[in-house]
Amino acid sequence: MDQPLTLSVLKNINFELQRSEMVAIVGVSGSGKSTLMHIIGFLDHCTTGHYFFNNQDVSHLTENELAKIRNQKIGFVFQSFFLLPRLNALQNVMLPLSYRGIDRIAAKQQGLAMLERVGVHAFATHYPNQLSGGQQQRVAIARALIGNPELILADEPTGSLDAKTGQEIMDLFLQLNQQEQRTIIIVTHDRDISQQCQRIVTLKDGSIYGNRISMG
Ligand SMILES: Nc1ncnc2c1ncn2[C@@H]1O[C@H](COP(=O)(O)OP(=O)(O)OP(=O)(O)O)[C@@H](O)[C@H]1O
Ligand SMILES: [Mg+2]
Repeated sequence: MDQPLTLSVLKNINFELQRSEMVAIVGVSGSGKSTLMHIIGFLDHCTTGHYFFNNQDVSHLTENELAKIRNQKIGFVFQSFFLLPRLNALQNVMLPLSYRGIDRIAAKQQGLAMLERVGVHAFATHYPNQLSGGQQQRVAIARALIGNPELILADEPTGSLDAKTGQEIMDLFLQLNQQEQRTIIIVTHDRDISQQCQRIVTLKDGSIYGNRISMG
């Protein structure tokens, strides 16, 4: 019988992230950036090797155990925002709290405060299609932050935005890192963005090709 096809995407990855760090992951398309982010964010398993999160080996946890850590500890931001179109900005931001069973009034207060934190308080009742790309990304960042995650993973967060708006979003990440000591990993193709991170990890063919402090 034929063996199932196995594709080794990542190889010999040895990578450590300190709390409060802001790291860029760069590399050409197909080099494995999103795959690595998915493993770091508990959306995917590594088939071999170990992954330690807060000094706990999480390599062999069950799906349910991983989902629990993911929901509590990780905030995701994506290139295409992924806001739910039928919910307004505030409802999108409140959603992770409702999954945690937090009551509506408290969730609403926290949601409004978070929208204010990212600068789109005035658009709380707007639906995603009534917001610009930059505004949508701010709402998505508020949604990622609302559960107070230990780690923020952003896969090409500025990839759908013009340079000026992209820099405004980057400024927000920098503030979150510098003022609130948020730990952030940003995948980006944009040199101007990666240079602003403290460290740049370069992937090539699924391996770490470079890992250096940014000269930004
Ligand atoms: N679910 C999957 N099944 C099979 N192959 C996959 C899957 N996901 C990714 N790959 C392959 O793994 C490799 C790395 O993909 P990945 O999406 O991590 O790249 P990337 O660096 O994020 O690229 P991009 O910059 O285009 O987003 C690619 O060769 C891709 O085709
Ligand atoms: Mg990718």
